[in-house]
Amino acid sequence: MIRLDITKALVSAGEVAAMENKVAAAQQALENGTCAGNDFLGWLHLPSSITAEFLTSIQECAQTLRENCDTVVVAGIGGSYLGARAIIEALGNSFQWLTNKGENPNILFAGNNIGEDYLYELTEYLKDKKFGVINISKSGTTTETALAFRLLKKQCEQQRGKETARRVIVAITDAKKGAARTTADKEGYTSFVIPDNVGGRFSVLTPVGLLPIAVAGFDIAKLIQGAADMEKKAAELPFAENPCMQYAAVRNVLYQKGKKIEIMVNFQPKLHYMNEWWKQLYGESEGKDGKGIFPAAVDFSTDLHSMGQWIQEGERTIFETVISIEEAEHKLLFPSDEENLDGLNFLAGKRVDEVNKMAELGTQLAHVDGGVPNMRLIVPRLNEYYIGQLIYFFEKACGISGVVLGVNPFNQPGVEAYKKNMFALLGKPGYEKETEAIKARL
Ligand code: PA5
Repeated sequence: MIRLDITKALVSAGEVAAMENKVAAAQQALENGTCAGNDFLGWLHLPSSITAEFLTSIQECAQTLRENCDTVVVAGIGGSYLGARAIIEALGNSFQWLTNKGENPNILFAGNNIGEDYLYELTEYLKDKKFGVINISKSGTTTETALAFRLLKKQCEQQRGKETARRVIVAITDAKKGAARTTADKEGYTSFVIPDNVGGRFSVLTPVGLLPIAVAGFDIAKLIQGAADMEKKAAELPFAENPCMQYAAVRNVLYQKGKKIEIMVNFQPKLHYMNEWWKQLYGESEGKDGKGIFPAAVDFSTDLHSMGQWIQEGERTIFETVISIEEAEHKLLFPSDEENLDGLNFLAGKRVDEVNKMAELGTQLAHVDGGVPNMRLIVPRLNEYYIGQLIYFFEKACGISGVVLGVNPFNQPGVEAYKKNMFALLGKPGYEKETEAIKARL
């Protein structure tokens, strides 16, 4: 199992124990469905309720895309792409798209920005590719995704013909409403439903994450098994042994002590997008009603050379959570060198991962000395099973933590504010009043 080490969190056992009742009540409120936002608790027992037949339907669709595409573009934003990207990058070869010998399609992402250059360059790149598209949008109306999908759909149809396009475009959206559903039904695309009671940022273990991950060639059954095992532990273990409850408790103790920023740290570049996924999960869930820990993220040791100074000696309002991978998947020994011009022979014969581990330990000691509380999430290996555990761990702890904080962790009312202005500025029909009001402000 993945484990949480809070011994360097700079909180006393008494402070953590004092949170037990609140945390247990939050856990109970989630399990009983009595917390705020209780119509979005579909993620809570999702892993244990996934059936073999459902996984087979995802794998069959993935197989069709794998057989007919060298490239698959996942169109989605926020919760509709970050989880898939996080897991695919964590499990994949860092140079997959350069070294690909055709055994797995390359997975690209679009619909998560409105960069004209990005979209131009993507459509240029795809010109000689046998590409498919997975269009993911729960609402089915998100502008960034809809814009990219319109471009990709047209290009796919032009390059591959309408019939083939129909086979290699898949929709993951609401069962009934939204433009993505209308298009999927009209065109006859294979489609999967995002359950009503699962919000975007909690949807990685629905088809939203599972289909792209399966297309990339990873074992979604093992991923779900890991999540289901964590679901069971998180529901059964007592407070003192329960990693989700402990993480939620320590975060809230630290927040009350003025630690307003949590930095998610990895020592593996492959985990960059895991941090991004975590940022959305915690930021959108907790940042409301004038409250919430600000979720930041760094990739170490890379960012020790850019953010290290701030973390070591800047304002003492931060704490760190490190995702620590126990065992690297590959072995690379540091070579000896006769001349030893770089003076590194003291490392000869050591694994690169051993050097990385000492960087991790040295950083922890230095940051704790500098007054930065440190939690370590120890993950035995970077494989599907443990990533499944990690995903569910963060989801459950997020639900508990948000309830303890006293917010509704499952809504995101603030996300709408920019959209209203953007639509008004673009002159979208129905926004005439807002357009007038905005013009008066410019
Ligand atoms: O977590 C959320 O709800 C959001 O980040 C959404 O996932 C994001 O805005 C995309 O929405 P949709 O899937 O409706 O296109």
